[in-house]
Amino acid sequence: MGRVFVTRRLPGDALKRLEAEHEVEVWPERLPPPPAELRARAREAEGLLCMLTDPVDRALLGAAPRLRAVANLAVGTDNVDLEAATERGLPVGFTPDVLTETTADLAVALMLAAARRLPEAEAAVRAGDWLTWEPDRLLGRDLHGATVGIIGLGRIGCAVARRLEGFGVELLHTSREGGTELEHLLARSHFVSLHCPLNPETEGLIGAEALRSMRADAILVNTARGPLVDTAALAVALTSGEIAAAALDVTDPEPLPSDHPLLGAPNLVVVPHVGSATHATRESMAGIAVANLSAALRGERMPHAANPEVYGLR
Ligand code: GLV
Ligand code: GLV
Repeated sequence: MGRVFVTRRLPGDALKRLEAEHEVEVWPERLPPPPAELRARAREAEGLLCMLTDPVDRALLGAAPRLRAVANLAVGTDNVDLEAATERGLPVGFTPDVLTETTADLAVALMLAAARRLPEAEAAVRAGDWLTWEPDRLLGRDLHGATVGIIGLGRIGCAVARRLEGFGVELLHTSREGGTELEHLLARSHFVSLHCPLNPETEGLIGAEALRSMRADAILVNTARGPLVDTAALAVALTSGEIAAAALDVTDPEPLPSDHPLLGAPNLVVVPHVGSATHATRESMAGIAVANLSAALRGERMPHAANPEVYGLR
């Protein structure tokens, strides 16, 4: 039996399995534990099951002498200082694969929502502004036949590409292994969809210059991480018509306050980081996070460690 802190309630019954083996405390609130609370719990814990909203930085790890494993309920691990964890020999679990298809579904949904102006059209109906069928009203853009640029052709980027084959698009991509030059992709694509991890090289990838090099009829879609895009530059680009629209599942900052200037920009579709949010996928993610933590606390190798170097791998 080890002490485990879980920073939020989880869907499904994965936590029951953890509770059968360990002394588990679950943070019961809707909001994440504030830093001081997280630090106090981490100080006593041997296992930490955390969310992408919990900063697990060097200071937190330093204040957690008993900690033997961290399991993040996400495929991204930019909220965890992997280097500091690896120096300590702490495995950090993540949840790849199970959310790939679900997140790709949302990316395509956002492409279509922005291109066909669905939120605006729906709001018009609810506001009583559906007077008649109008030949020139709410005209959008086609996804079929468009050129789509996928930035980051990893697991999720590939899943988006597979879906888009059915739309008869022309695909461009950048990836670690090569693909198209970013500049060329930005200049050509009607849709630019981000699927790369957030790290020092990708932070601010879509800034003022990138936005200027995009087509005036381009739609930017971000289901990856908010800081890949310079928020202020995006607001300018939408307002000045440098690009046609943006559809965001992730933002910087996150959450986006309801009075944030970006929300005043035209042609913006935004949803609150729900890429993996289906019943089945969130339950699978919880299952993997628990399996990661349980394995590590038993002294076994985590099935999905984001820093396999701790096992002498990579
Ligand atoms: C969600 O954003 C994740 O990284 O799983
Ligand atoms: C549209 O509803 C059409 O019939 O063209």
